[in-house]
Amino acid sequence: MHSLTVVLPVALTLFARSALATSCNATTPCPSAFPCCSEFGFCGKDDFCLGGCNPLASNTLDSCKPNPVCKDATHTFTDNSRILSNATFFNGNASEYDWVVDKGSIFNTNSSGGELAMLLTETNGGTRLSSTRYLHYGTVTAKMKTGRWGGVVTAFITMSDIKDEIDWEFPGDATTEAQSNYFWQGYIPTGSNNGQTAKGLSDTFSNYHDYTIDWQPKALTFSIDGKVVRTINQADTVDPQGVSRYPSTPARIQVSLWPAGIDGASPGTVTWAGGMINWKDPDYVSAGHFYALVKSITVKCADPTAPAADTTSYVYGTNKTAETPSVAFSNQTTLLNGADPTLASGLQFRGAMVVAAALMVVSYVL
Ligand SMILES: *[C@@H]1O[C@H](CO)[C@@H](O)[C@H](O)[C@H]1NC(C)=O
Ligand SMILES: *[C@@H]1O[C@H](CO)[C@@H](O)[C@H](O)[C@H]1NC(C)=O
Ligand SMILES: *[C@@H]1O[C@H](CO)[C@@H](O)[C@H](O)[C@H]1NC(C)=O
Ligand SMILES: *[C@@H]1O[C@H](CO)[C@@H](O)[C@H](O)[C@H]1NC(C)=O
Ligand SMILES: *[C@@H]1O[C@H](CO)[C@@H](O)[C@H](O)[C@H]1NC(C)=O
Ligand SMILES: *[C@@H]1O[C@H](CO)[C@@H](O)[C@H](O)[C@H]1NC(C)=O
Repeated sequence: MHSLTVVLPVALTLFARSALATSCNATTPCPSAFPCCSEFGFCGKDDFCLGGCNPLASNTLDSCKPNPVCKDATHTFTDNSRILSNATFFNGNASEYDWVVDKGSIFNTNSSGGELAMLLTETNGGTRLSSTRYLHYGTVTAKMKTGRWGGVVTAFITMSDIKDEIDWEFPGDATTEAQSNYFWQGYIPTGSNNGQTAKGLSDTFSNYHDYTIDWQPKALTFSIDGKVVRTINQADTVDPQGVSRYPSTPARIQVSLWPAGIDGASPGTVTWAGGMINWKDPDYVSAGHFYALVKSITVKCADPTAPAADTTSYVYGTNKTAETPSVAFSNQTTLLNGADPTLASGLQFRGAMVVAAALMVVSYVL
């Protein structure tokens, strides 16, 4: 599997204040004191219980906070006000922020009315943003421009907490191509022609294209500029034991720019990404970073059943029939300490940390 998650675990565990340095998986779930298994497979609490928290590897099925429910939206990036610049400080309020920065750095350009620039430098390890809301089936279109440098990968994916994953990926040395992929609970579905490449696009660095993931219960289609380039039928993913190896759990939307061509990456990944990154590339030297641009992301939810008026979230149910956890709507809070009267002071503490961090940056620059 090629994705930014490969390079994240070390960086994230370094600053995890609420973490236990214990790994977790479905057979060895987290202890009750640090109940939540992060997307990187480490036990913790607080932000470990938010986006990416794996219910099957956490202390109990309801240790992770419920996933904020899908909402139709067109996200534009004329400014950063809907983006929380550091996911560590997210409190689960998906009305306050649409996106969190899991890693790296961003800014807004204003060349054509505003777009999000995701940066990669030799030291930042790449940039990844996640949506604060999940979708449980739906159509997502990202209008974006990719990188154009060997070893630098641009990606637009959906990722569930148990690693049902649907990808558009763009190795930087192939700017007339777009690759589609999907995974079921982290595995390549057997018998599927997993990665496929659409060719003949006008330069993906210079031109905006609309990349669409249309994820419905019975079929998954990938489109470019409104034209379907690949279809996967759910019925064709059922294995001989009757298990549907098809993404079926609520997922976050993620966009990223990440370094695949670096020391320590597997040779296969380096080759796939177009070789080792040239940090002396004139584009890098002149700008001080590599970048990819996102102009908009449109979300059309397609929940199999209609939510109730008070629905706030998705939760995993106990029914694991056919290896596929059941998913249900819930009206429970998605907020950390949502039912806790000390919430206000907790928020103040988090706010103070953000201010302190900002002051540190300012004094460093000065
Ligand atoms: C699950 O985690 C335990 C403890 O870290 C480890 O011993 C075991 O090998 C892991 N199992 C799998 C399937 O990864
Ligand atoms: C969540 O954010 C919204 C929008 O900023 C705000 O109106 C609301 O009070 C917040 N909820 C809580 C519980 O903090
Ligand atoms: C987010 O905040 C944490 C805690 O202050 C810090 O260690 C980390 O480097 C920050 N991440 C980013 C991407 O700025
Ligand atoms: C960005 O461009 C828009 C429209 O092109 C303009 O209204 C806005 O003021 C610009 N913002 C900045 C920060 O320059
Ligand atoms: C469990 O889920 C399976 C597959 O979705 C369904 O056929 C079955 O009726 C469910 N069982 C219960 C007790 O809800
Ligand atoms: C959530 O739904 C339950 C059952 O329908 C209801 O009893 C409860 O009051 C609701 N809670 C909230 C916060 O709306």
